[in-house]
Amino acid sequence: MGSTELIRIDLDEGILTLRFDRPDKRNALNLAMYAALAAGIRRADTDDAVRVIMITGSDSCFTSGNDLSDFLSAPPTGMDSPVMQFLLALSQARKPIVAAVNGAAVGVGVTMLLHCELVYAGCGAMFQMPFVDLGLCPEAGSTLLLPRLMGHQRAAELLLLGESFGAEKARELGIVTAVYPDADLLAAARAKALRLSAQPAAAVRLAKSLLKREYAARLQETIAEEGAHFIARLESPEAGEALQAFMQRRKPDFSRFA
Ligand code: COA
Repeated sequence: MGSTELIRIDLDEGILTLRFDRPDKRNALNLAMYAALAAGIRRADTDDAVRVIMITGSDSCFTSGNDLSDFLSAPPTGMDSPVMQFLLALSQARKPIVAAVNGAAVGVGVTMLLHCELVYAGCGAMFQMPFVDLGLCPEAGSTLLLPRLMGHQRAAELLLLGESFGAEKARELGIVTAVYPDADLLAAARAKALRLSAQPAAAVRLAKSLLKREYAARLQETIAEEGAHFIARLESPEAGEALQAFMQRRKPDFSRFA
């Protein structure tokens, strides 16, 4: 399998690794990157040589989430948008997904982890879901998956205040499976991925689908409903102010919006 410019794709010992590679923009995900990720996951699902999908970033950053300038210049318009195609591919993947998170994981960089089976973080990893801060709304099925994982109040705090939190807290909340020293993270995550790839593949796929059976249909509905709100919110004055503020490197002022 080939690599696109900003997503490195590598198949080795049954593990298909999708690696974000746009360090100058903290691995912000643009349209081409979403499309490459969606295609990689879909292809992994039909390729018998792939037993495990692994998602990772660069040494100092997992991903800063959606490219914020794309929200202004090329916003998603519907379910056929690359970001929605990525979320559908991720949430419908039949094969197990392992994530290795070093550095910052922001926005979809966190919500994508909710769809993974094993999530490993470096001790210096930093997590944040600033959707509301941006005048937007949570996405990727997170309004269903976060309260399931940690309860309403803890999910609400993460989503409504949008504060950043560290790897240990992410582990306590159930977002992260285990935390390793930053330097050991990739080797540790790969060792787990190799163990998973040595497991009987059909039994792994069945267990994964049974684990999600109770909420699988609702998850797809939630992703679509959140997506529709998200797209509408991108046109809101609040999001306009937040995105302009990011571009202008200033604090947003929401005081004039009721
Ligand atoms: N979209 C587009 N560009 C982004 C980006 C994003 N999500 N995140 C970072 N960048 C760009 C910055 O604009 C900057 O570009 P420049 O060098 O051309 O000016 C570059 O990446 C480095 O960013 P910087 O903020 O200086 O890096 P940092 O290491 O100090 O901080 C983050 C890293 C991830 C904590 C910080 O960049 C951040 O909070 N980014 C926004 C995250 C966000 O709101 N994502 C959307 C969630 S829905």
